[in-house]
Amino acid sequence: MPTATLIVRPDAPIGTISPRLYGHFAEHLGRCCYDGVWVGPDSPIPNTDGFRDDVLDALRAMPTPLLRWPGGCYADHYHWRDGIGPPADRPRRLGMSCGLQVPDDNGLGTHEFLRLCALLGAEPYLAGNVGSGTPQELCDWLEYCNAAVDTTLARERAANGSAAAFGVRLWGVGNENWGCGGNYDAATYAREYRRYATMLRHVDPRAELVVCGHEDAWNAELLDTLGARLDLVDHLSIHDYWNLGGPETGFGEDQYHALLAEARATEAFVVRTAALIADATGGKRQIGIALDEWGVWHPEARPWGPDDVVCRDPVTYEQANTLRDALAAALAFEGFHRQCGVLSMANIAQVVNVLQAPVMTDGDQIWLTPTYHAFRLHAPHHGATALPVEPDGGATLPDGTPAVTGTASRSADGFAVSLVNQARHDGAEVAIVCDGAPSGVSARVLAANDPAAQNSIERPDAVIPAPLAVASDGPGRWRVEVPPHSLATVEFRRNRPV
Ligand code: AHR
Repeated sequence: MPTATLIVRPDAPIGTISPRLYGHFAEHLGRCCYDGVWVGPDSPIPNTDGFRDDVLDALRAMPTPLLRWPGGCYADHYHWRDGIGPPADRPRRLGMSCGLQVPDDNGLGTHEFLRLCALLGAEPYLAGNVGSGTPQELCDWLEYCNAAVDTTLARERAANGSAAAFGVRLWGVGNENWGCGGNYDAATYAREYRRYATMLRHVDPRAELVVCGHEDAWNAELLDTLGARLDLVDHLSIHDYWNLGGPETGFGEDQYHALLAEARATEAFVVRTAALIADATGGKRQIGIALDEWGVWHPEARPWGPDDVVCRDPVTYEQANTLRDALAAALAFEGFHRQCGVLSMANIAQVVNVLQAPVMTDGDQIWLTPTYHAFRLHAPHHGATALPVEPDGGATLPDGTPAVTGTASRSADGFAVSLVNQARHDGAEVAIVCDGAPSGVSARVLAANDPAAQNSIERPDAVIPAPLAVASDGPGRWRVEVPPHSLATVEFRRNRPV
């Protein structure tokens, strides 16, 4: 077994890994919000204020620092006033997103969502309606949520249960306005954004505004059209779904590697976007990149991608979630850490039941996916200082890149190193070099015999983290042996006995 060495560079810190890089996304789509998160206070499923207790516990433990809502494409149909006031009086609307049409009783509205965030300890991120809304409607929602002065909207908020302002910082001005959010061209949307953002800034200058980006050509034209008014932008949103991996479980060798390569390539998209921003601002203004939808999109969830795979009928946006998907997430986290100076948030799509969900439910049952465990294994990095990790030696993938890669961070009580062995068939011996790391060491690994392994109601613990032995090779030197297609986190803590 060839030894792969990961050299951690404590002398070259990259920046802070904001907990916002471990954000989530809850859309009124399929069984994400309704059923997955919200069952209503009268449900026989145990709940707190209408939110499933089992899901709350799982999301808290993951943890869930940031949550975007209510869309996605749903956002550009959503009228926030439908979701306030006595639930029995709320209108029953046509819930529309991504081709699905369902009745939406608006039981989960603004107060409920913000209660969910409070229950989870999550920062809320509200996505506003540009496609079928108006600047006034979005200004009113902002005032309703955040006004600390005595206005009619603030009184209405108080009458609906919250005298205190919610102080929501993050506001999206539309979603995918190049497509489902209005089919704008970049320049027209940029002018529309300028109008919205100007008005929103008057209502709450502390709101952080997110402009809708897309691919490079759109982003370049958008930034160019905003020109002198880039001060109106705090974050630029991009989405990246990985759809080259073939079937969700029956994938071949090439498809296994294609999906992981796509996950690694997300970093290049962030880097390109950062370069466009730097070019447009001349480096004079910090505009963060909000990767506010990312993850694996298997063709079974809804046909997309090059492969001729039969989709579920009807389309549910639900898909299998395997160890391969968890590896893809862990590779993305490596890039998020390296780009933490320009990437201001990232939200996996979506938090429960839809697409690459960490949590799945069926009736009153719940199970956690391998992607959930990837998030959990990376929790030690939240808020820590990202450190470069240089791979040296070891096996390579068919494309010539190292099979074992890693990411590291330093916090007040030590270091954490997470690594991925992408080799499909071979385990790896990994030497970790981390000068100055304390000697209290522990590690956990996520592995299974097959990269297509997944959890289910029947086998909720088929893919869960297990303890990993760590051998010491002298000060600042350790060794682990990891199985094929696995990911692991090694922690070095001052406060942990050896
Ligand atoms: O996450 C599902 C959909 O994908 C979202 O509604 C949309 O923004 C994207 O196209």
